[in-house]
Amino acid sequence: MDTDVVIIGAGAAGLMCALTAGARGRRVLVLEHTDKIAEKIRISGGGRCNFTNLHCAPDRYLSNNPHFCRSALKRYTQYDFIDLVARHKIPYHEKTLGQLFCDDSARDIIDMLVRECDRGGVDIQISTTVQAIDRDDAGRFIVTTSRGVVDCASLVVACGGLSIPKIGATPFGYEIAKQFGLNIIPTRAGLVPLTFDPAVLDMTKDLSGVSVDPVRIQSQSGMVFDEAMLFTHRGISGPAVLQISSYWNPGEDISINMHPHGDVLVWLKDQRKAQPKSMLQTVLGDIVSKRLAQKIAEDMDVEGRMADLSDKILRAVASRIADWRVKPSGSEGYRTAEVTLGGVDTDDVSSKTFEAKNVPGLYFIGEVLDVTGHLGGFNFQWAWSSGHCAGQVV
Ligand code: FDA
Repeated sequence: MDTDVVIIGAGAAGLMCALTAGARGRRVLVLEHTDKIAEKIRISGGGRCNFTNLHCAPDRYLSNNPHFCRSALKRYTQYDFIDLVARHKIPYHEKTLGQLFCDDSARDIIDMLVRECDRGGVDIQISTTVQAIDRDDAGRFIVTTSRGVVDCASLVVACGGLSIPKIGATPFGYEIAKQFGLNIIPTRAGLVPLTFDPAVLDMTKDLSGVSVDPVRIQSQSGMVFDEAMLFTHRGISGPAVLQISSYWNPGEDISINMHPHGDVLVWLKDQRKAQPKSMLQTVLGDIVSKRLAQKIAEDMDVEGRMADLSDKILRAVASRIADWRVKPSGSEGYRTAEVTLGGVDTDDVSSKTFEAKNVPGLYFIGEVLDVTGHLGGFNFQWAWSSGHCAGQVV
């Protein structure tokens, strides 16, 4: 069998590329090794899919080459995807910080992509394993699958990253890249829950369920996020911790400011004058939750009334609130990570067409590339933008 385009991976990027190429009249075959398409879309955003972000911009992405994502994000923007969603009459809302979610179900996004693929005559084959990829003398790709052999002019690798192997993630995209001589930037889990040693867990277990919104969380390299944090029996979690995990390296501290909108020391000194007879935990209860205030006073062994507390003690308390240093012991890894950092080296791929610079006809799109977004809809937007741009040229 022969066709124009074979796309490996029926995820967000692969389906976007397929529907775009299909709309141009290209004959497109999508190969998916699991028995379902777009599983990550289905489970994303708690089942409601945070499908893009109003504030999408290149500085929301990590990559060895931070400029690589610019062109595609500009050519297929968040507004282009919002238009598509609106054309399909999918109800959605902004949850917070520009994050757009379906009102009803992530299924709406999958159905929309499938309808668009159908319109372009795209053939999607599930439960199909790619066994080998070769090239003939004319430069066409010969793809041997569990269902037979297909040759094509353009081969698009849209296999995603390593996150959540249980629902289909494999290293196949990286293996294809290596086969054709492309470089791989070492991968690691991103947007992933961090783990903590018993000393931290001892402290956080008493606070389980307490949230602080926002905290200002900072990595050792200086990356800062203002987002919500939650104390749990497993340490600290929530969007702030997921965001910083992409910038965290083993052995490093992270710094957490639990009252980011004000100078805590100045405020404490003012309170010492204004409420000299109050206990520290009572006063702290005005800026953090009562349980957290109590815990901080207890852990720091601070007793007595505000009037009795020295500048040195207030400085230590202020630092505990505004610059709490915590050292994660590790991360939960690919088992629970939302994304994979690193991947196919963008130096080896055109930022306009996504074609491998040294292998005409071979394309890489989506998460398999060394481009990773922050939490908040940026990763799907990368899949839509890169998928669309490749879909226009394959
Ligand atoms: P994706 O992983 O979507 O698709 C790859 C496809 O290739 C899969 O169908 C896979 O089975 C298939 N495949 C793999 N190996 C293969 C092989 N050997 N042969 C054939 N097929 C193969 N992002 C966001 O912006 N908003 C959000 O709300 C969320 N939420 C979220 C929740 C959870 C739990 C996770 C794990 C991830 C998110 N993300 C997210 C991230 C987002 O899901 C991710 O960045 C995109 O799905 C990446 O799209 P791709 O198409 O590149 O890969």
